[in-house]
Amino acid sequence: MPGICKTVEIAPKVYWVGVEDWHKRLFDCLVPLPYGTSYNSYLVIGNKVALVDTVHPNFGDELLRKIASLTELVKIDYVVMNHAEPDHAGSISRVMAQAPAAKLVLTSKAAPIARKLHGVEEGRMMVVKDGDYIELGGKTLKFVESPWVHWPETMFTQVIDDKVLFSGDFFGAHLASDVLFDDEVGDILLPHARTYYALIMMPLIFMADKALEKAKACRPAVIAPSHGPVYRNPERIMSAYEKWIRGPLEKKAVMLYVSMYGATEKLAEAIKSSLSAEGVNTVPFNLVSADPGHIASEMVDSSAVLLGVPTLLGNPHPVGSSALTLLKYLRPRAKCAAIFSSYGWSGGAVNIIRTQLDGLGFKILDTLEIQGPPTREETEKAVEMGKKIAAWIKESRGV
Ligand SMILES: Cc1cc2nc3c(=O)[nH]c(=O)nc-3n(C[C@H](O)[C@H](O)[C@H](O)COP(=O)(O)O)c2cc1C
Ligand SMILES: [Fe+2]
Ligand SMILES: [Fe+2]
Repeated sequence: MPGICKTVEIAPKVYWVGVEDWHKRLFDCLVPLPYGTSYNSYLVIGNKVALVDTVHPNFGDELLRKIASLTELVKIDYVVMNHAEPDHAGSISRVMAQAPAAKLVLTSKAAPIARKLHGVEEGRMMVVKDGDYIELGGKTLKFVESPWVHWPETMFTQVIDDKVLFSGDFFGAHLASDVLFDDEVGDILLPHARTYYALIMMPLIFMADKALEKAKACRPAVIAPSHGPVYRNPERIMSAYEKWIRGPLEKKAVMLYVSMYGATEKLAEAIKSSLSAEGVNTVPFNLVSADPGHIASEMVDSSAVLLGVPTLLGNPHPVGSSALTLLKYLRPRAKCAAIFSSYGWSGGAVNIIRTQLDGLGFKILDTLEIQGPPTREETEKAVEMGKKIAAWIKESRGV
């Protein structure tokens, strides 16, 4: 909407100039976004002016209008690229065209990506490394390399004077909101932050672990990520990350299944009831309609993965195979699994899935493959499977 130019001062002369993408409904062609998302960009005004990250290219005009409401575009001295992904770096070329003297501040790993993806000439780049500073006059920016949260080139930027930490995707959430700060958004926030963490950070949890230490060492008073709300209570998101990365796994299993005629689903129900009776919470997902973000979020603290996939033309049903692709991508902390399946004449899905899960480093606790819908005896075997998984989960947690 032309004419509307909301900006928010998050610290003295440090402004949010980001945009809300209220109507985006799918991110990365994979994850449903019930509340849309936002792309956060920040303007730091000292004697010199720095812009930290830009926005999705669809919103470049809105970003330029917001900056222009606070300073002349030609006065931008630095554009800091914490992350080269187009949802944040996609408007860099627009901004740099309006600010001919501006340098792009980035890590050495980011330079070739900025060149190829965003058309920035090397002469306009200023490569920084861990601990480097830029004095703006009245404000000091410090750079903290934090690779692989999300891409290899990522870094954090601090405004030392105000203890603001621009953390890029780290600590982000897909959540469009008319209010900016975490306390204003309320309880709805952390579930979204957790889904975001699960999809973007959990696959490279060792790097997330290192990045969390680096973020803590900055002792931020404000955490300003590149998606979703700004935390003026940084402990809230830092302790959540601590728990998600390092906390104990729960007495919980995620069950992923598909069933054409209901046979595999009957096994799923029997296994779930059995786990429940043993005090283990099971979160079932029918893969035909499941949201990968929801699956990922439940994987953060689950102890086991249970896969139910019938045989189709000698192979696991392709929708069931998609669960294996998702597990390969998400790399959850749970490393034990069970497989159950139904077939019509000769089966085969279980053996193929077992080999694939082995390859992903899973310990297979149990398998069950039956012909057609389960008989009473086969249902009893499913109940036994549930008991076995429950015992293993309890033992692994020392309870
Ligand atoms: C398109 C199609 C292909 C199938 N291919 C096989 C197969 O290769 N081998 C087999 O043993 N059963 C095969 N079946 C039979 C199913 O695996 C069997 O009906 C099973 O009980 C279905 O489980 P569900 O009710 O959980 O979907 C096939 C069924 C369909 C519909
Ligand atoms: Fe990203
Ligand atoms: Fe992002």
